[in-house]
Amino acid sequence: MKKITVIGTGYVGLVSGTCFSDYGNRVICCDIDAKKIDRLKNYDIPIYEPGLEPLVRKNVERGNLSFTTDISNAIQESDIIFIAVGTPMSPSGEADLSYVKAAAEMIASHMNSYKVIVVKSTVPVGTGRMVQKLIQEHIGERLVSFDVVSNPEFLREGSAVYDCMNMERAIIGSTGEQSADIIRELHAPFETKVLVTDLETAEMIKYAANAFLATKISFINSIANLCERYGADVGHVSEGMGMDSRISGKFLQAGIGYGGSCFPKDTEALRYMSQQVDYDFSMLDAVIQTNEAQRMIVVRKAQDLLGDLGGKTIAVLGLTFKPDTDDLRYAPSLDVIPALVRGGAYVRAFDPVAAHEAEMLLGTERITYYRDLYEAVEGADLCLILTEWEDVLHMDLARVKELVKQPKFVDGRNCFSLELMRQRGFSYRSVGRPDVDGVLV
Ligand code: UDX
Repeated sequence: MKKITVIGTGYVGLVSGTCFSDYGNRVICCDIDAKKIDRLKNYDIPIYEPGLEPLVRKNVERGNLSFTTDISNAIQESDIIFIAVGTPMSPSGEADLSYVKAAAEMIASHMNSYKVIVVKSTVPVGTGRMVQKLIQEHIGERLVSFDVVSNPEFLREGSAVYDCMNMERAIIGSTGEQSADIIRELHAPFETKVLVTDLETAEMIKYAANAFLATKISFINSIANLCERYGADVGHVSEGMGMDSRISGKFLQAGIGYGGSCFPKDTEALRYMSQQVDYDFSMLDAVIQTNEAQRMIVVRKAQDLLGDLGGKTIAVLGLTFKPDTDDLRYAPSLDVIPALVRGGAYVRAFDPVAAHEAEMLLGTERITYYRDLYEAVEGADLCLILTEWEDVLHMDLARVKELVKQPKFVDGRNCFSLELMRQRGFSYRSVGRPDVDGVLV
């Protein structure tokens, strides 16, 4: 049993703190946001993450997990302190480290014995060293020792609890053997592969992994665009490529590109890091540029199907950047819907969990919001799929056909087979696959 403090109760901090507590450690999750801590104390989880609430409840009830705003006391009580605060993107693309620095200073001020300080937030290469220096400077003459470890997180939103409990690997970047052993031991119950490196290498692994996955997505989207021009089907191209175990079919799903809190931010941060050392990472530039262009292809396809968007009603199905999350950060919907409105369309926006949040961001001019898909499609000239929610994948197409004004679909996530849409009599445009203009049989 280890005594752990986690500073920051966002996605990463809350999920990993809860999972560590589930393996018998005593975990204190801290945040400066008193409202958030109050909610957590009442099992009111601030993020939508399947499976998290029961796990929090179980571990609070058995005394392994607690929530507090009293960070100083938590630091003194613990042997291992995780920094899991946000590192938002600043306008230049650089990661904003002010919360990481504030956490490091706080730790330095309250440390009373040897601590392992683990940076879990995604931070630019060199941050671990910077944290080490900052803490050293703050400690001054006091005789307390510490080590800094980088232990990046690879959780996916929507399956974060599963990913954490079934961790594929733990990366431990450390400055010394003692701290690496402590963090390795902490991961023993997860029965996962462990790679011990130096600080800088661990930090680079996180960026390299995310940039590589983003590259796979932009690559397959470029292939999809070519498929459209040559009459090939990208679904089968991905399948065929994925049969080669060196390639793997994962992250080869063509569509409207990546969004969310990680890929856009981390690719920008890596680009910024490259610029800082005068390295021309042109491949990364292309990945980012391809992704930005890709989200707008559905607007062009809508225009092609409707002629003019002016005065047309478009049901946008799915607003979050992917299913099973309420996260709208860098979601394609935030670019696509304003473009449709600029084109003169009326938008009926559906999302099962994020309709209200989207309304706060996009407003109500020419846009109405629905939590029910069938209400959203009523009277639509076109249905436009942006997120492959279960409600979308399993919609009753016959009922939709009766409710809409025109049986037309643009699908940014390739949710349906071409044959099905042909049989159901829809005009159907997807990504990287042949056009379907269905006729009722
Ligand atoms: C990602 C990484 O997977 C995770 O390891 C890291 O810690 C955080 O970033 P997440 O952003 O939660 O996780 O979502 P993920 O499931 O990876 O999808 C990211 C985006 O890529 C989504 O917008 C998704 O729609 C898109 N995507 C994913 C594709 O367009 N095609 C694919 O084949 C896979």
